[in-house]
Amino acid sequence: MLSAGGLVAFPTETVYGLGGDAFNPGALAKIFEVKGRPRFDPLIVHIADTDALGNVADLDALDVAARKKLEALTESLWPGPLTLVLPKRKAVPDLATSGLPTVAVRVPAHETARRLIALSSGAVAAPSANPFGYISPTLAEHVVQTLGEKVDLILDGGPARVGVESTVLDIRGERPAILRPGGTPREAIEALIGWVSAAPSGGAVGVDGGSGNDGRVSPGMLKSHYAPRSPLTVHEGVSVCDLSPADETGAAFLFFDGASRDAWLSGRSPEKGSAEMPVVAVLSETGDALEAAARLFQTMHELDRLNPGRIHAQLAPERGLGAAINDRLRRGSGG
Ligand code: TXA
Ligand code: MG
Repeated sequence: MLSAGGLVAFPTETVYGLGGDAFNPGALAKIFEVKGRPRFDPLIVHIADTDALGNVADLDALDVAARKKLEALTESLWPGPLTLVLPKRKAVPDLATSGLPTVAVRVPAHETARRLIALSSGAVAAPSANPFGYISPTLAEHVVQTLGEKVDLILDGGPARVGVESTVLDIRGERPAILRPGGTPREAIEALIGWVSAAPSGGAVGVDGGSGNDGRVSPGMLKSHYAPRSPLTVHEGVSVCDLSPADETGAAFLFFDGASRDAWLSGRSPEKGSAEMPVVAVLSETGDALEAAARLFQTMHELDRLNPGRIHAQLAPERGLGAAINDRLRRGSGG
């Protein structure tokens, strides 16, 4: 299917991808069309193993320091939810990189994904397999529901284990920059290569915003993204306790942990008790960020299907995978 220029949705450890042959401009054009994605937002190129990196990235164009960082990162963190922005090779069509001189590359840690790539030209361009701007898919069913007939083939690999997209890291220059927080925590990267700069969470980096990365941006970091159909409001801590009964009517609540939900429940004023109980979901009873990330998009899909008037979501503690969870929630709320 890939060799014929078709599109194959496939499982990865982060989210499902909408794959096309990275060397085939026709297939790349189809990806943008099916997703409704603007062409200025470049794609991630997936390869089966680190040895294939030279086919898409121009490693000779990296300085010695960057090459050392590259080695340390790929050795420890590939395959895995880490995407590296590197100088691109000419063989990669401009359509894949939106005309940028760089290419974003990753080796997914999912057997089905790697076997698919190995059967292809060796490079599969794949954004998340959702309509542009909507919640990302962590189940094959999500792809069926939102893209369905527009995809030639959907491979079902069960629920995505990590549940949030890869961390996008630009390792060029003196100080590497996280362009998108994701499934590889900043802490794990810094343990290997030292201090990295990170965009302010919540999509302040974007085509429409400033950046904390010396001007380096990820074109896809639009403020409004990952958005459910119902409006989403994010809350620090348990400030959702302060909502008036009117605010709760028809709303759904998404808590990071069970303790916060319990605090919210016990803090509700008596007159709220008589009102209809809103829908309540918890990402992780014990407050485990790994579990919370794995359940984030699926829970948002489920809440959104109930068509609530508004979804109130509690932010996670801003460390480890919490940074990626909060980034997705903030951008789902429109900034
Ligand atoms: O986990 C993931 O990364 C998933 C799975 C399918 O691998 N893919 C994914 O792709 O999230 P997508 O297209 O939804 O997000 C790709 C991100 C966008 O923010 C895009 O702007 C950025 O990577 N990106 C791609 N190429 C880039 C480049 N050359 N320079 C800077 N950012 C780039
Ligand atoms: Mg996406």
